[in-house]
Amino acid sequence: MRSLVLTVSDRVSAGTAIDTAGPAAVELLAAAGIEAELRVVPDGIESVSAALRDAIVIRRPLVVTAGGTGVSERDLTPEATRSVIEREVPGIAEAIRAMSLEKTPHAMLSRGIAGIKRSTLIINLPGSERAVRECMDVVVPVLPHALALLAGNTDH
Ligand code: MTE
Repeated sequence: MRSLVLTVSDRVSAGTAIDTAGPAAVELLAAAGIEAELRVVPDGIESVSAALRDAIVIRRPLVVTAGGTGVSERDLTPEATRSVIEREVPGIAEAIRAMSLEKTPHAMLSRGIAGIKRSTLIINLPGSERAVRECMDVVVPVLPHALALLAGNTDH
């Protein structure tokens, strides 16, 4: 089962902006041997949580969201994620923010979380291509082990 990159953006879904963040995430996952497809949804708890639930039902191993983690009124990706996960993985968000703060103080405005529902790992990233590239550098090295554990391979 392929993983999912979910671009969360009102403007991309309305066709008034071009998505460069989502394709960057797909490209970086592919480079790590993780095949992913790209989907775009507008900001909002309902739109994002519905897409996450679809991914969980079809047992996608990984969903990387890009966007909607900030403090604007429409930035609701963390709330949508929290509404579907069973278990949070705080270390992923902590590692992302720790690295990101070295790059920009604006990193403290990203409220992204990470967590698990059934066998699906969901990771929120900020929505700029630059942020996605920086954050994927942090996350990619732990993905093979995380996905193996979630798939039930605990021999280590
Ligand atoms: N993290 C990294 N690594 N690099 C960045 O450029 N941009 C920040 C922050 N985190 C950034 C980052 C900015 S400017 C914002 S507003 C927040 O993420 C939230 O972004 P989002 O609303 O697109 O999710």
